[in-house]
Amino acid sequence: MKAPVFPKVTTHVLQEMKLKGDKIAMLTAYDYSMAKIIDDAGIDIILVGDSASNVMAGHKTTLPITLNEMIYHASSVMRAVERALVVVDLPFGTYQGNSREALSSAIRIMKESNANAVKLEGGREIKDSIDRILSAGIPVMGHLGLTPQSINKFGTYVVRAKDEEEAQRLREDASLLEEIGCFSIVLEKIPARLATEVTNNIKIPTIGIGAGSGVDGQVLVIHDMLGINHDFSPRFLRRYHNLFEEMKGAVGMYIKDVKSLDFPNEREQY
Ligand code: KIV
Repeated sequence: MKAPVFPKVTTHVLQEMKLKGDKIAMLTAYDYSMAKIIDDAGIDIILVGDSASNVMAGHKTTLPITLNEMIYHASSVMRAVERALVVVDLPFGTYQGNSREALSSAIRIMKESNANAVKLEGGREIKDSIDRILSAGIPVMGHLGLTPQSINKFGTYVVRAKDEEEAQRLREDASLLEEIGCFSIVLEKIPARLATEVTNNIKIPTIGIGAGSGVDGQVLVIHDMLGINHDFSPRFLRRYHNLFEEMKGAVGMYIKDVKSLDFPNEREQY
């Protein structure tokens, strides 16, 4: 096996990055080849997000993805990664029921995929589940603000915690997640000022998506930032490529070459 160029990222390394003011870069991946590319590029955290439900399986929400499917994606990613810390989402319906179910879902992910940590959406309402998972020695990343698994309660993907009541609940939930031992918290689609305030008030790193620049790190869905997914354009998204058009162009050239008998040529056969 090739020796890693950089030291392996651990939850301890992330804590030190926050202390030093080094920003944390996180992206999603769901398969071996993509994980290999982004790990090689030096990403700090890879999230095997339940956004796989949208970008890999074509569902409208993150709700349908199953624990078995998440384990399949996570194991594929783990076979590629040498340096990044790999966090896996517990999918909808596998931890909200009770803390025993939550623990057994988290244990399946850790045992069957070999991942480094799990992520759960929510605050005080899932405290018992987080406590139980943590007590088994499994690192937990929290997720507050817009929590897509609750889309049927919110009814929309608009910015969360704009009013003072919801903002105060989020502040308290962030402190609670820190207190019970989460190693980091994702803050999704909340006002930048609130995200900065929360980040300054807790000692564990915050990772923002649509939460401004005052957080300790950023996360994007890889299909969105590479422009593979071209029908999703929220204001917070920066697209670094237009791979949908580039890949479509390459496929178009291949089709043309096959049909015109240009491919394969003499050097491309035995
Ligand atoms: O599933 C996911 O990709 C996520 C990120 C958007 C944070 O939870």
